Amino acid sequence: MIESLPAQYRWAAELAGPKVPDSTTVLVCGMGGSGISGDFAQVVAGGVGVDVRAHKDYGLPAWVGSIRPLILAVSYSGNTAETLSAVDAARVLGLDVAVISTGGELARIAAAEGYPALLVPAGLQPRAALGYLVGAALVMVASATSLSNPAAMLVETAQATADLLGTEGSGRGHEQARAIAGALESRTAVIWGSAGPTEVAAQRWAKQLNENAKTPAYWSTMPELNHNELVGWDSTRRELYGSAGIVLLRDEGERQEVSRRFDLTVELVRESAPIIGEVWTVGESVLARAATASVIGDLVSVYVAEAAGIDPVPVDVITELKDRL
Ligand code: PA5
Repeated sequence: MIESLPAQYRWAAELAGPKVPDSTTVLVCGMGGSGISGDFAQVVAGGVGVDVRAHKDYGLPAWVGSIRPLILAVSYSGNTAETLSAVDAARVLGLDVAVISTGGELARIAAAEGYPALLVPAGLQPRAALGYLVGAALVMVASATSLSNPAAMLVETAQATADLLGTEGSGRGHEQARAIAGALESRTAVIWGSAGPTEVAAQRWAKQLNENAKTPAYWSTMPELNHNELVGWDSTRRELYGSAGIVLLRDEGERQEVSRRFDLTVELVRESAPIIGEVWTVGESVLARAATASVIGDLVSVYVAEAAGIDPVPVDVITELKDRL
């Protein structure tokens, strides 16, 4: 499924997509593997001053009443309770809504209400459909706002991820992922990014390790972590975190001050916590940089699962919880 990501980005690059009502702000509503498309859209659009925000809850935040954003509901299954609740709240408030899904209740509502809808190919786990969902979200955002056509950045992203993946596990990305997965062993991963492409990538890493490798994993960002988390890596408290390992996600575009903070922070915690990997983004566009850092995390999560004899695909406990709600 990871190997299909370049083709997914290419699919999105060729999408026409429906016309979406104009708006200056887009609120992307979605959860988990679908919701992270909102974080990708936010970081890409934010880089060029277009206001996209991600919402991961029931209902809608109170500010939508005054700003009246376009509500972009993203759910791969089309049946996620929180996302349907957001759409319902938007309907009550008379907000414009657009939908991305493979079908389900969300597609049914879109057809009934006349909301523009973009159907993405079905048959994957939602988190494995990242290229479809992020690409579709960017196409919809570009239709609604001043964001320019994302086709070129999607093509660049497809090429950059394909280069990392190579063929049949031969790519540089696999090599790097195998080394990090080996160093992680049975450690709990802590992923550090910084504002911009590595923030969303750090989030993706942690969630992929949760769902594919079935392990806790945590993420945070520089410089905020210098103001709190850094203190928690106190060597006298090692018994509490002794099995953690830190992965750094770095970007050539990060501010010089942030680079300096990474260097100093590593020096300060090196005695306490092992730095088990450093991954640099590849590419020009924010999307390519976020996606290349992310795909290494996808691979690490699967290598960690493989080493533990775990099937990365099913997420039975999520299904059980949804059934019991
Ligand atoms: O990866 C997963 O399976 C989950 O994180 C789902 O994406 C999440 O539960 C939301 O479901 P959906 O993506 O169908 O809206």
